[in-house]
Amino acid sequence: MDRLYAQESLDSDEIVYLLDRLDEESRRRLHTLAHQKRVAYYGTVVYLRGLIEFSNICKQNCMYCGIRSANKTVSRYRLQPDEILECCREGYDLGYRTFVLQSGEDDWYTTDKLARLIADIKRRYPDIAVTLSIGERDDETYTRLFEAGADRYLLRHETASRRLYQALHPTMTFENRRDRLLALKTIGYQVGAGFMVGLPGQTHEDLAEDLLYLKELNPDMIGIGPFLPHQATPLKDEPAGTLEASLDMIALARLFVPNALIPATTAMGTVHPYGRELALKAGANVVMPNLSPLSVRPKYTLYNNKICTGDESAQCRFCLEQRIEGAGFHVDMGRGDSLNWLSSP
Ligand code: SAM
Ligand code: FES
Repeated sequence: MDRLYAQESLDSDEIVYLLDRLDEESRRRLHTLAHQKRVAYYGTVVYLRGLIEFSNICKQNCMYCGIRSANKTVSRYRLQPDEILECCREGYDLGYRTFVLQSGEDDWYTTDKLARLIADIKRRYPDIAVTLSIGERDDETYTRLFEAGADRYLLRHETASRRLYQALHPTMTFENRRDRLLALKTIGYQVGAGFMVGLPGQTHEDLAEDLLYLKELNPDMIGIGPFLPHQATPLKDEPAGTLEASLDMIALARLFVPNALIPATTAMGTVHPYGRELALKAGANVVMPNLSPLSVRPKYTLYNNKICTGDESAQCRFCLEQRIEGAGFHVDMGRGDSLNWLSSP
């Protein structure tokens, strides 16, 4: 582990060896090393991002996802551009300087509509960063949205195992996912990749692949959380990923890609009441409170028992700020760009 701290990498066999043998004591050591690495790169600040889940309409059919197109029980919604702008206004007044616009793959939101929306947001709030998380689009769309002012893009690779990826994504391909991530990087976005922990059939070898893929891609952001079942999906009876395994992967991601921004995800807070605080102590340094209107929050249900679906935006920020400070960290409301990106020419 100390070698991992020093050289910021291991090979696949070494990762598997480590994962196979983790016990309470070595796990504590791993999390401590990840915390030290995070402090060395980012100090004890935690960046806050305002998350706006603007549409749960999706043409894809990922096996794990509660808003997959085959789920006919979900009540669908789509916020209009003016409603999204209103969320941004509220978020800006609360102090947020990054807005994350996330949705299913909803083609009503054409390139033109999205470009106009992004340009409007940037015109009103020139000092903020816009992060998109709207799935796979073509090069031209990614380019136009970047030119309109989008700064960052979250597109988790979901799993670096080709076998698992193909089994879980009947409407998508492993190659295209990777190709999209490379396209986003080439265009100039700060790019976020990431994966789920505890997917049905996932092995330590698969998780080693995830870390090595991240090392190679060198993303600006890394989203990691447990797989959590949703009752209206084919994976409804599968066991959830565990808190411990998810914390281990967050810690390893911090040690493999030290200058990345790593959120303590909502899924971490769902799997355990203090999951997000524990993630912050294991190397995470971002939290994404929800800014979506209360009326739509319960409809953006990716998995069972999702937290924070009933709190006002202001309440959400206050609650998370208290939790962050209580865990020994300091909230930073700035744009919080990744060190990787800031140091690039
Ligand atoms: N459509 C966009 C995309 O594909 O990137 C963004 C929305 S998608 C719902 C956001 C993330 O939710 C996915 O990347 C996936 O990792 C996560 N997610 C979906 N269903 C989940 C589940 N059942 N358990 C845990 N995470 C889940
Ligand atoms: Fe499209 Fe989950 S299947 S967002």
